[in-house]
Amino acid sequence: MTDADRELLERADAVAARAYAPYSKFFVGAAARARDGRVFEGVNVENAAYPLGVCAEKTALARAVTEGVGPGEIEALAVTASPCGGCRQWLHEFGVDRVIYRRADGEVAVATPAELLPDTFEL
Ligand code: THU
Repeated sequence: MTDADRELLERADAVAARAYAPYSKFFVGAAARARDGRVFEGVNVENAAYPLGVCAEKTALARAVTEGVGPGEIEALAVTASPCGGCRQWLHEFGVDRVIYRRADGEVAVATPAELLPDTFEL
């Protein structure tokens, strides 16, 4: 893992404290670095109507899009947990080069979206 990727995971770790996760108490942070160097942070935001909650990876990517950064323009995304299935599909859609994430046992892993979600469909 590069120093830049390590720093990105540190950004994700720091922002996780701002997650809104009163139901699961599972605080997740994410940080996406665009090719131009900008970093977009996100946290999970839950809701009393449980399925309406959103994951940290999605809020980080939605922030990037809001700032004009779209698919193909994100170099790396770090997240403090192992990405859920739906987020793996988002990471695929955005063509993120690599994903840095922390497994349940605390080990840090680096993988491509294709490794995280093989055999995706194309529209
Ligand atoms: N969560 C994320 O934010 N990202 C993931 O990839 C895994 C799950 C959040 C969703 C929910 O708020 C909490 O973790 C428990 O599932």
